[in-house]
Amino acid sequence: MQKKPLPDSVVRRAAAISADAIICVDHRRLVTFFNHGAEAIFGWTEAEVIGQPLDMLIPSQFHAAHDKHMVAFAKAKETARLMGQRREVFGVRKDGTQFPAEAAIARVELGGNNAFSVVLRDVTERLRFIQENAELVDDLRAAVAARDDMLSIVSHDLRNPVNAVKMLASAILRTGEAEALPADVGDHAAVMLQAARQMDALIQDLLDVSKLESGRMAVDPQPVQIGELIDAASRILEPMADAMDVALSVSIPASVPLVDVDADRIVQVLSNLISNGIKYSAEGGKVHISAASDEDVVRISVEDAGVGIPESELPRVFDRFWQSKRTNRSGAGLGLTIARGLVRAHGGRMWIESAVGTGTSVHFTVPRAAPTRRR
Ligand SMILES: Nc1ncnc2c1ncn2[C@@H]1O[C@H](COP(=O)(O)OP(=O)(O)OP(=O)(O)O)[C@@H](O)[C@H]1O
Ligand SMILES: [Mg+2]
Repeated sequence: MQKKPLPDSVVRRAAAISADAIICVDHRRLVTFFNHGAEAIFGWTEAEVIGQPLDMLIPSQFHAAHDKHMVAFAKAKETARLMGQRREVFGVRKDGTQFPAEAAIARVELGGNNAFSVVLRDVTERLRFIQENAELVDDLRAAVAARDDMLSIVSHDLRNPVNAVKMLASAILRTGEAEALPADVGDHAAVMLQAARQMDALIQDLLDVSKLESGRMAVDPQPVQIGELIDAASRILEPMADAMDVALSVSIPASVPLVDVDADRIVQVLSNLISNGIKYSAEGGKVHISAASDEDVVRISVEDAGVGIPESELPRVFDRFWQSKRTNRSGAGLGLTIARGLVRAHGGRMWIESAVGTGTSVHFTVPRAAPTRRR
């Protein structure tokens, strides 16, 4: 059978070299055009296929369904259609192997008869890639879940022994107040108590991170004045600020409305931010805390004039365990992760602005309390 040339020679050349299979069939569904892409995908040469029924390229279990589709498409109004939108399309190679494909079909009228052209792509590799990716994502999710479980179990079980050390060290110190103890025992007990407190704080941070990440952190919002929470956090950090010779200051306009937050959790957020401000300031530095009303939220800012964070590092500051090589890496690198997680648990957001040598500002928003009814 004579191969019918396509009318447009440019289109024909492009079609011939396309990596996709391009196949034309006449109204009897005999192949009239079979390009290089089709040869590569199906393994047949053009000469072997021209004039043969299209069915030789379709797995036999799909012949009946395919016949039905072709008949329906021949009568349909539309002249082009994507195949396999609702179900997968398969092709069969010369060696008998079947492969998943993506195909589009177009109908042209030639001499009063319907002829069809099919553009088909072998998607075996793409599907394999998607499948492998999905498996990888599943594996990663499982690994992260296992690690988080482990983290919370270990941290939970560490609390009891650490508490025992804390209690016993305190007991020794109390004994020392009442009666004379051997030399150094009091000093050692004080160091033990301090070390156990640090461990306790770290365990609490680890537990908070795993709670926040698994969505188990519950907050209990109540209407409260943000100034009270800022004062509470400042009081906790005053000894640290004094020791590092950093001045804390607060400004809150009287117009700032009540906020709707879990007081303990927002004090925890503020403590994390203020302690960073102190830690990453030079001696004689300043940390300023302010609040302002902003539409339906209250925005709180903690600003320091400390070492600052280079722009390249800013995207990482909220990553857990991340610490800049430029700072002294005391702590665990969890403070900002937890602070932002807690703010998000309140429906707020947290962001950071910083410039090396100028200082850092961390801002966050919390919802304002519903206005109380006038008496
Ligand atoms: N105010 C700041 N000024 C300069 N660098 C900061 C500031 N706040 C945070 N950083 C940088 O971001 C890192 C992460 O801060 P984050 O509070 O999460 O952890 P940390 O302070 O190192 O330890 P942790 O808070 O767990 O005790 C810090 O190690 C520091 O390098
Ligand atoms: Mg910190």
